[in-house]
This record gives sequence, C-alpha cells and structure tokens, in this order.
Amino acid sequence: MKQSSLSNLVQPFHVMELVKAADALQAQGKPVIHLSIGEPDFPMPEPVEQALIQAVSAHKTRYTAALGLPELREAISRHYEQQFKVRVPAHQIVITSGASAALMFACLALINRTDKVLLTDPGYPCNKTFVQMAGGVPDFVQTHEAQNFQPSWADLREQWTRHTAGVLLASPNNPTGTQLNAQSMKDIVHGVNTLGGFVIVDEIYQSLCYDQPAQSVLQLTGAPSDRMPVVVINSFSKYFGMTGLRLGWMVVPDTLLPAIERFAQNLSICPNTPAQWAALACFTPETLAICEERRQIFKARRDFMVTSLPKAGIELHSTPDSAFYIYAKSPYDSERYCKDLLEQALVCAVPGKDFSEFRGSEMMRLSYANSMDNLKTAIERIRLFNKGQLP
Ligand SMILES: Cc1ncc(COP(=O)(O)O)c(C=O)c1O
Repeated sequence: MKQSSLSNLVQPFHVMELVKAADALQAQGKPVIHLSIGEPDFPMPEPVEQALIQAVSAHKTRYTAALGLPELREAISRHYEQQFKVRVPAHQIVITSGASAALMFACLALINRTDKVLLTDPGYPCNKTFVQMAGGVPDFVQTHEAQNFQPSWADLREQWTRHTAGVLLASPNNPTGTQLNAQSMKDIVHGVNTLGGFVIVDEIYQSLCYDQPAQSVLQLTGAPSDRMPVVVINSFSKYFGMTGLRLGWMVVPDTLLPAIERFAQNLSICPNTPAQWAALACFTPETLAICEERRQIFKARRDFMVTSLPKAGIELHSTPDSAFYIYAKSPYDSERYCKDLLEQALVCAVPGKDFSEFRGSEMMRLSYANSMDNLKTAIERIRLFNKGQLP
C-alpha cells in the first residue's frame, strides 16, 4: 500500500532499538538497570486509584464534554489560585488526553502551513512532529550548558525570521531537567509578544523541581489573553504519576477556545472519562502529601546522581534541578557508548540523538526514575565500566 508523505516524515525513536536490546538481555535473565525511563517509577497515588475504581464502578464511562469535565476544570483553576496565586478562569482550562493532545491542539490552532516554529535543541522529540503535523516547519535553536540548555530571548530573537510564528518551550525541559529562570521567561514572552508571535510553554514537569518552588509562566502573564498570547501545557502524567491514564490540560486565551474545542471534538471526542473523575482526587491534601513525599525522594536521587556521576567518570555541565533527567556528556559517541554500557555493564541510558540534532552524539540522558538501590548499583557499574574494571 502506498503511504502518505507524512508517515515518512515522522521519525522513529532511536532509543527503541536500545530498549529492545535491553529487553532481550532481560529475557535472558540479565539484571539490566534502566536509566532510560521517562515516567515515574511510582504507581498512581492511592486516593486517585480509589477514585478511579469508584468512577468505573459507578459507570462513569461515557463521553464527557470535549473540553473536559467542568468539575476538573474548576479544580485546576483553584489549584492555580492556591499554588501559584494566579487567577485562571476554569473556562480557559481545557482537559486533554495527556500533554501530547494538548501540544497537538495548540499547534493545530496556532500554526499555518510553512510557518516556522522555534524549538529548543535539545528538547522533547515529539515537539517536532506536532509542528510538522500542523504543517509548520520546526526551526531548532541550539542551547548551551552555560545557560542550563535553555534559550535566552537573544538566542530566539537571532533566529526569528518573518516566517516565524512562535516558539514552543518546555520548563522544566526533557532531556535536560533544567528550567528557564523567571527573568528569561519574562524577556521571551515580552519579546515574542512584541513580534506578534505565540509562546507555548510546556510545564509538564512543573512540580517536580528540587531547588526552588514550582513556577508557572502564568505567574508572569496572568491568564492568557489576546494581549498575552501564551498557551500553557500540563499533564497528570509526571507529578501525579498517571502516565497510562492519558490525562493532561492546557490553558488558552478565550479567542482560541472555539478552535481548540473543534479540534477536541473531532480528534478525540473527549479525554478518558474515568481518568477525569479520578483526577479530581489529585488536588486533595491527601494526594498532594503523597506527591510531595515522592518529590522529596526524587530530590534525594537527583542529589545522589549529581554527586556520583562525576566520580563515576561522567561529566555534567549543567545543573539539573527538575524533572527526573540528567543530560550528561557521553565519554565517547553516545550511541556507541550507550550500546557498550548496556551490553557490558547492563545499564540502559539513552543517547542524545533523539533529543538533539546538533550535539546528540556527544550527549546522553540518564533518568533517575528508579529506586535508590538500583541507582547505586548502576553508578557502580558505570564507574567500573568507565575505568575498564568490569569483572
Ligand atoms: C516535555 C514533555 N512534554 C510532553 C510529554 C507527553 O506527556 P503526556 O504523557 O502527558 O502525553 C512528555 C512525555 O515524556 C514530555 O517529556
């Protein structure tokens, strides 16, 4: 069958080859440790699980409104007020099937054919696909260690052309585990606004931060509007540990709502209904206490990894303060290194190729979404491997 040109445009994840090799080793009984995982190693919090079971038992399994359950939109609005002291009307909050659908809807609503969209390199690999699906052209902005792999307004301005429609950022970012500081974010939003562009800010890892309180661009801009054309993306996947429930949200200016609603109606009808009811349990003190405890566990792991990796022979050039990733320099070509590390040390890390066009072969991503015991074993194996002392 003849395939569309779009199907050839979408890139596979190179890491899948490595994960397949890791799975094959595990199937042979080899104790592989994954530092490759992009999701929390915790189950969904107990109160959420209970709420999910109750929702299913009560047959809350039919479609909801395309923009999501009003109760959940209200709960998220209260959450912004309580945690960030920012008033975001519930009607500007749209529930989606994960941050993925939110990113897709945002791109479809904002990008015209052949529009250029600035994306950070390194960055989340699927962003490129969302832009392309909307007919746009991804334009990668190289970021550097010295700025914690986040762009400045000057970096973006330099690459901005008359064909550029906007910019898609993530703070904290994947694969770097670093955030944009408030001043840079402010400069970017202001600068892009002056040029009449849009800013999409993916805040999926927002509450998983370890050195300062969680931040939102909405603290700087207030609720999005035509005067402040920001779209915020978020998700229940990471902080709330609900990856498989496929639930996220976006905050959009009023004028974008009808378009987003049409995309939602046509492309997904509505987000997962039982998951939406379950998510109402996320913002309760009980669940937030569980998530806070887990955040502390992630922080302890981050501290351990940041101090241990250099001793094990892996250089860090940035300060990962969020998410559960460390983007580090690979001792040699990262694809070969990660393959060797897997085969010889049974540690699975991810080469930078999926995240970076510019320096992917130099860098690799290590995830600490794994138990402290496993992290300790992994570090020891990496140390021995790097010294050529593996038994
Ligand atoms: C930066 C970033 N944005 C979006 C997503 C998609 O997340 P979701 O599970 O909410 O669709 C991911 C997943 O890893 C991510 O790392």
